[in-house]
Amino acid sequence: MKTKAFSDQIAIVTGGGTGIGRAFTEALATGGAKVVIASRRTDVLRRGADEINKTLGAERVFPYEFDIRDRAQVDELARDVFARWHSIDILVNNSGLAVPETVTEITDEGWDKVLETNLRGVMQLVRVVLPHMLQKDFGDIVNVSSQAGKHGYADVPAYCVSKFGLLGYAEALRDDVRKRGANIRVFNFCPGLVDVENTGPDQSPRAGFVHVANMARTLMYALSLDRNVVLEDLNIYAR
Ligand SMILES: NC(=O)c1ccc[n+]([C@@H]2O[C@H](COP(=O)([O-])OP(=O)(O)OC[C@H]3O[C@@H](n4cnc5c(N)ncnc54)[C@H](OP(=O)(O)O)[C@@H]3O)[C@@H](O)[C@H]2O)c1
Repeated sequence: MKTKAFSDQIAIVTGGGTGIGRAFTEALATGGAKVVIASRRTDVLRRGADEINKTLGAERVFPYEFDIRDRAQVDELARDVFARWHSIDILVNNSGLAVPETVTEITDEGWDKVLETNLRGVMQLVRVVLPHMLQKDFGDIVNVSSQAGKHGYADVPAYCVSKFGLLGYAEALRDDVRKRGANIRVFNFCPGLVDVENTGPDQSPRAGFVHVANMARTLMYALSLDRNVVLEDLNIYAR
């Protein structure tokens, strides 16, 4: 199976300007990949990209404004990245949010917002990125689900639905690329609580939370595995 050095790879990390996405972006860029970080807040993206590029002394992180709920913007993101670099090797579906409404409080707006961001958005993005990966017979798709994709929590039912749904979608996607014999891997993260506030290398995470650096290390480990290895859901949480 075809392999490719990190330094030749192009990644898209949705929500790559903050939290877990930012840690993923730093790790991928440090590994040599070019990383397009895409979400709604340009200022946050630009600041994140500048900081990482400055640390690395190289332009490896590129901000891109888009709203994953908007199909036209999703299509444009994939089109622009492919037009510029002629390849999309890694897609990290990390953008996501929760609306804390219990089963009796849940609103149509809250439900739609969560499902459109966490689930329909991922489907839309994979739909336009996958053909490029198939064309090059190379790609990795990384989905950030949650322990809320494995267990139901009363305070965030819509979020649980979206994250359970993401795992179902990812299984179908993995089966699809397997049947095609394509050199494309699908990884799912199912984190418990990850501290996205105390992220400095010397900072300790809050009790019950995982330091975000562990997410980044796990991503790089997963991506380093042989191309024929299937690594199923990564359940990662603090003891
Ligand atoms: N932290 C945890 O404990 C934890 C645990 C399990 C799973 N997760 C999952 O991990 C992922 C990252 O979360 P995080 O904790 O790092 O929180 P975060 O910093 O709030 O990251 C969420 C990202 O999603 C982006 N986003 C939200 N709506 C979007 C939209 N419509 N279009 C494009 N991007 C959008 C945000 O960027 P903009 O606001 O700029 O759009 C933001 O960068 C999420 O999928 C979350 O569900 C987190």
